Amino acid sequence: MYDIFSLPAIHFPEGFLWGSGTAGHQIEGDNIHSQAWHNEQLPDFYKEDPERTIRAPSGKACDHYRLYQEDVELIADLGHQAYRMSIEWSRIEPLEGQWDHNGAAHYLDLLERLAGKGIRVFVTLHHFTQPLWFDRLGGFGKADNRRFFERYLNFLVPKIAPLVSGWNVINEFNLWGGLTAGPSIAPLKFTMLRVHAMGYHLIKQHSTAPVSSAHAFIHWFPRRFHDTLDRRMTDFADFATNEFFFHALRTGELVYPGVDAEYDAEVKGALDFWSVNYYTRNMVDARRAGLNGPRLHHKQLKMVPMPFYLEEMYPEGLIANLERLRDYPVFITENGCAAVDDRFRIVYLALHLSALHEAMERGVDVRGYFHWSLMDNYEWTSFIPRFGLVAVDFATFRRTPKPSAFFYREVIRGNGFSGATVKRYLDALPTLTQQEI
Ligand code: BGC
Repeated sequence: MYDIFSLPAIHFPEGFLWGSGTAGHQIEGDNIHSQAWHNEQLPDFYKEDPERTIRAPSGKACDHYRLYQEDVELIADLGHQAYRMSIEWSRIEPLEGQWDHNGAAHYLDLLERLAGKGIRVFVTLHHFTQPLWFDRLGGFGKADNRRFFERYLNFLVPKIAPLVSGWNVINEFNLWGGLTAGPSIAPLKFTMLRVHAMGYHLIKQHSTAPVSSAHAFIHWFPRRFHDTLDRRMTDFADFATNEFFFHALRTGELVYPGVDAEYDAEVKGALDFWSVNYYTRNMVDARRAGLNGPRLHHKQLKMVPMPFYLEEMYPEGLIANLERLRDYPVFITENGCAAVDDRFRIVYLALHLSALHEAMERGVDVRGYFHWSLMDNYEWTSFIPRFGLVAVDFATFRRTPKPSAFFYREVIRGNGFSGATVKRYLDALPTLTQQEI
């Protein structure tokens, strides 16, 4: 067990940016013109959960679209200096080619209020959701459809640019397609790299703020450490989700197993920082379909009572992964855990910030950290996982900051912390109960 109460005092460099993140569909509610909303209404949505004990539609989510002014106050009260949020394309272009100016005005007001509080905003332009009309046209699955996204960015970006301190063009496209090789998935990977590059160059015409796309950085490891197949497949998983993205942005060379490589000068160098979303490590098992192995038993922490969210804490992965990203500044744009017992979140935060600090001591240029998430929210198919620093009562929408929110505020105020800080917020360490698979 980590001796977390004896953690030495750590201090982050002056100007290090502290904040939290959310995504529109997960908090706003009534996102009725999106493909996600549409899919949540279909009977198929409950195929994996016929009893409907876990899955639920997003509905009003956190009702943030209505309560956004209150939420700006909350972000400021919690001492956050920065906030990562996404803008819902389907609220601005609900029907193809038809702009809803109220949607754009809403986001402008939100951004202005955040600026008024001195909060620096990182905006994600596509966080999994897209307008239903775009989805029905084949979404990004059709390379040519990127022109619709480009037209939308040309409408939106100049309007909001003065209020944005950092940009994510797309969230986590590096995971799209999963662990599949060959021609069925490579075109989508290449298209997304080009969509990212298009967004990057377009934004640069209007904004001096740094641009990237958020990268889901998974730390892959082999189930059987000395098994050649497991090791090879771990290398493959790492290439398919991590390295193809880094390599393309560094060199302009689009490489994916099973297809001819391509070169695209627009992709080369199309980033100003690495935007890292890090949660945990994943096991690779060459003998299982899809290659995904189970979590290690002794590290499965009972953070959330649902079978598909067995979290594993692996802060060391943050150090190992960040060491690969020395050529550009880094912002951690997501890091957090689905914990019912909020004490886990304090432990998780302390261990990951401590690992982050160590990566910085090793020379990685980390500029800021956005905790996922500001508040409990709609975790894509379910309200059960609780990722928030702030609890949300989904019947009344009342927000209540958890102890972890106050711990984090103290970290921000002190620009660091020590084991003694952790001890003030935890009278005892939470029990790490094993959970059956
Ligand atoms: C996504 C978030 C999600 C979080 C936790 C990330 O992959 O960007 O939208 O809520 O993981 O699962």
